Amino acid sequence: MKDPLFGNKVAAAVLTALLLIFGLPQLTAAIFGGGHHGAGGELHLAYGGELDLDTGAAPAAEEPKADLGALLAEASAAGGERRAALCKSCHTFEEGGANGTGPNLWNVVGRPLASVSGYNYTGALKDAGGAWTYERLDLYLKNSQEYIPGTAMVQRFAKDGQRADLLAYLSTLSSDPVPFPEPAMMESAGEEMHGEAQAEGEAH
Ligand code: HEC
Repeated sequence: MKDPLFGNKVAAAVLTALLLIFGLPQLTAAIFGGGHHGAGGELHLAYGGELDLDTGAAPAAEEPKADLGALLAEASAAGGERRAALCKSCHTFEEGGANGTGPNLWNVVGRPLASVSGYNYTGALKDAGGAWTYERLDLYLKNSQEYIPGTAMVQRFAKDGQRADLLAYLSTLSSDPVPFPEPAMMESAGEEMHGEAQAEGEAH
């Protein structure tokens, strides 16, 4: 049995068998490492619907763009209230509360920027115009000076989840809270997965 092509034939047979068993996309993914690191990889795909041609090297620490609606749906107002202790050195939160170093924040979601009477705002905040949406509050809390250069408040909260908690708390400072923005479309799939995981957790 001296077949010079024996090795090649075996290789071809093995490859064919693998193709039959796994199908081409999975096999390609298994070889090139795309989309097969379990839930993380799949989640990433689901997130922006972008095709991430993953060659194994992680992209330079670029987080998937966080969806504020989804973050708020998971946020904890109670956690935000604890965190808001930080704000209290400058702000009051209750209705009719006094202005301090910063203006009173009752009803801040939805109200026009720089609109608390009797508080002496910077020109920067007055000129910014419009009203405080969750999105704008999120940007202001992320980096107040970057979002509104020249504002007198200097605060940075880098963590998306922590800002979402703060926003969830700010939303409670109203007799008629502004509804959160809807989570982006793809998020419903993630929600289901999350629900299942939770149900499993509770069963134990
Ligand atoms: C060291 C003091 C200080 C701290 C701490 C602080 N702020 Fe402020 N904040 C200010 C000042 C001063 C202004 C007014 C800025 C201006 O006029 O440019 C302001 C303005 C604001 C505004 C705009 C209000 C309006 O009427 O337009 C919001 C919202 C806000 N702060 C939220 C917060 C939250 C939430 C926290 C805590 C996570 C916080 N701030 C912590 C000083 C502070």
